[in-house]
Amino acid sequence: ADGNVRVVVRIRPLSSTERDRGCKEIITSMTQDYGTAPDDAAEVLQVASHPEDKRWFEFDAVLGDRAHQRDVYERSGAKDAVVDDIFKGYNATLLAYGQTGAGKTYTMGSAAGDSSEHAGILPRACQDLFETIRTKCDGNAKVELSYLEIYNEEIRDLMSDNSAVANSPSSSRHKTSKRPKASAPKPLKIRETLNGEVYVSGLTAQEVKSPEEIGGLLEEASKRRVVASTAMNAVSSRSHAICAFLVKGVLEGGEKFTSKLTLVDLAGSERIKKTGAEGSRALEGIHINKSLMCLGQVVSALSNQKSKRKPPYRDSKLTRLLQDSLGGNSRTIMLACVSPADYNLEESSNTLRYATTARNIKNTATKNIVQEISPEEALKLQRENQLLKQQVAELQEALRKVSNGSPTQS
Ligand SMILES: Nc1ncnc2c1ncn2[C@@H]1O[C@H](COP(=O)(O)OP(=O)(O)OP(=O)(O)O)[C@@H](O)[C@H]1O
Ligand SMILES: [Mg+2]
Repeated sequence: ADGNVRVVVRIRPLSSTERDRGCKEIITSMTQDYGTAPDDAAEVLQVASHPEDKRWFEFDAVLGDRAHQRDVYERSGAKDAVVDDIFKGYNATLLAYGQTGAGKTYTMGSAAGDSSEHAGILPRACQDLFETIRTKCDGNAKVELSYLEIYNEEIRDLMSDNSAVANSPSSSRHKTSKRPKASAPKPLKIRETLNGEVYVSGLTAQEVKSPEEIGGLLEEASKRRVVASTAMNAVSSRSHAICAFLVKGVLEGGEKFTSKLTLVDLAGSERIKKTGAEGSRALEGIHINKSLMCLGQVVSALSNQKSKRKPPYRDSKLTRLLQDSLGGNSRTIMLACVSPADYNLEESSNTLRYATTARNIKNTATKNIVQEISPEEALKLQRENQLLKQQVAELQEALRKVSNGSPTQS
């Protein structure tokens, strides 16, 4: 099935720092403030840079500052992707994009064990994934979890201790982590299979059996991700994180499927001057902006159907790993996060422009399904086969008799 990338915008509430600065709220959801849009209709977001200067943008959904985490999970289409698309054999990708501090990590969620109302998409998706395995696959499915980060253009396995140790002296990994400082980070390499599938060589893929188990693993993994405090966000992600669930199962009708659910929490675009970044923070910022620019170029190449230009996937690790999610075999949802504050107007406008472009991207998601026959059908075919063999033998025998005992070829 062909489909455009679904683009959803979330406007977070004004932060306390924005309030302290005396910022005004200039980005609002028309749907939230003026009633709900009918199903399927695009939703409208308003940017009022001045009372007389208002602009409107249309997206597949617009979630305003009063939207709860549950609303975001459901109305973004994330829930449908998990309980529906995955179990039809489609790959699904959710991608959080936006300026630093705009709410990407909050929206995606990290610890999968989190069952509070603040739980983000990740823990909700894990719950629904296993719930749906119970109802649609009679409990029979294999789920493998992998989790990596791209930090300063290096790929690190967040599920494994030895490849994800941060040794840059200023990077603030979790304080309580007791990993030996001696082992140098071992960046992983991207490889391609003969049929052009991109994968990360040596990346851990661990079988998981319950949301609780995933919760524990992701909590550990999230501690390994590089997070630091900047002037724009006290808990700023300094890397892009890609969390993937490979689901292999058999539906009740006997259909065998393999599909991949990918959740991406990007590092935020930032203006070095505003974040006050220096030294390694600034270097991170440069890498972050560079790979996001590549992503932007891929998005714009894909959105322009007439352009003969090949999307420059190979220009960054991020775009290479997201090749299938953008313009490839996946149903993709892009969650653009914005601050409502006038102070961030320029960055928010950039995010909205980007999101508008992304709406034009067409993906070709194909079902990853192998038709499997039931044991009853197998038995029936076996019996039919035996019967046919018997008939062939009888006919050969009859033929031999007709041709007066002259030898027949079997
Ligand atoms: N919808 C929301 N409601 C309440 N608090 C929020 C919301 N969105 C974000 N926040 C808070 O705002 C701060 C910044 O959010 P977050 O860390 O998710 O931003 P980010 O987009 O991931 O930034 P970065 O690119 O720097 O990683 C956090 O303290 C977070 O808890
Ligand atoms: Mg973040």
